[in-house]
Amino acid sequence: MDFKELGSTGVKLPEIGLGTWNYRGGVEPLRKAIELGANLIDTAELYGTEDVVGEAVKGRRDKVFVATKVSANHLRHAEVLRAAEQSLKKLGMDYIDLYQVHWPDLAVPIAETMGAMEQLVDAGKVRFIGVSNFYLKNLREAEAAMKKHRIVSNQVKYSLACRGIEEDMLSYCQSNGITVIAYSPLDKGALVAKSLFKQRAARAVLERIAVETGKTAAQVALNWCISKPSVIAIPKTDKVERVVEACQASGWRLSREQAAALDRAFQ
Ligand SMILES: NC(=O)c1ccc[n+]([C@@H]2O[C@H](COP(=O)([O-])OP(=O)(O)OC[C@H]3O[C@@H](n4cnc5c(N)ncnc54)[C@H](OP(=O)(O)O)[C@@H]3O)[C@@H](O)[C@H]2O)c1
Repeated sequence: MDFKELGSTGVKLPEIGLGTWNYRGGVEPLRKAIELGANLIDTAELYGTEDVVGEAVKGRRDKVFVATKVSANHLRHAEVLRAAEQSLKKLGMDYIDLYQVHWPDLAVPIAETMGAMEQLVDAGKVRFIGVSNFYLKNLREAEAAMKKHRIVSNQVKYSLACRGIEEDMLSYCQSNGITVIAYSPLDKGALVAKSLFKQRAARAVLERIAVETGKTAAQVALNWCISKPSVIAIPKTDKVERVVEACQASGWRLSREQAAALDRAFQ
């Protein structure tokens, strides 16, 4: 497993972590990920998986980087503080490594939300502050509202099939010490499920490169994501063998030609 710095914090995160939205796998796949070095686990108050994450991490807290999120309907100051307490309780932990604002809520002043996030860091309940699903305008406003801490990450949808962040967000994050946490990096499984995938020609390129590299299509799709500077990916799987497969998406690189061929095929 290769690692990348979280923002400019000095903390190293694995290029591949595990997401837990719609996760039904129990503790074993999460423990396998931790064992293999994919020790970033992403959850959210909305997912209903904070308890299983807590269970999986029990006895290994110092080895795991736990990311969770406050929901968009809890962004008033007191609501953020309350949501964090509830997440800590469900996780069975006394601190959260990365606390993320799940979606912006334009009805709540961003300074109010970020003030509460900073208070949580000052209280030792949160190590780092992140956001999720923020457009560039939202991100810059949130950054401007920070008084003493920094926003270290933006968790956004990014995969071969979903390239919206390449317009401006990706380069902004790369230039400003913000990690992009790519969610749905397999396009919710559609990139690798033959029955679901419609772009035949693009799929053929993915499969050709899988053969060339001796990797699976999922590993090629994940490697394409993490080959971009400042990007790490958090696929979700309920299956131990797919955790192993996802972990082996790191530790090697597509050639420049292969990455460019994928860029073109899925444009
Ligand atoms: N911040 C946000 O708003 C937001 C939104 C969406 C997601 N997320 C985060 O990102 C994580 C991942 O995104 P996602 O769950 O939407 O999609 P994803 O990781 O792109 O795809 C997950 C799907 O792909 C399947 N899969 C996983 N590995 C596979 C493999 N090697 N071969 C074939 N199929 C495979 C999984 O099935 P099995 O489980 O059966 O393996 C599951 O159905 C979430 O769990 C969550 O933590 C965040």
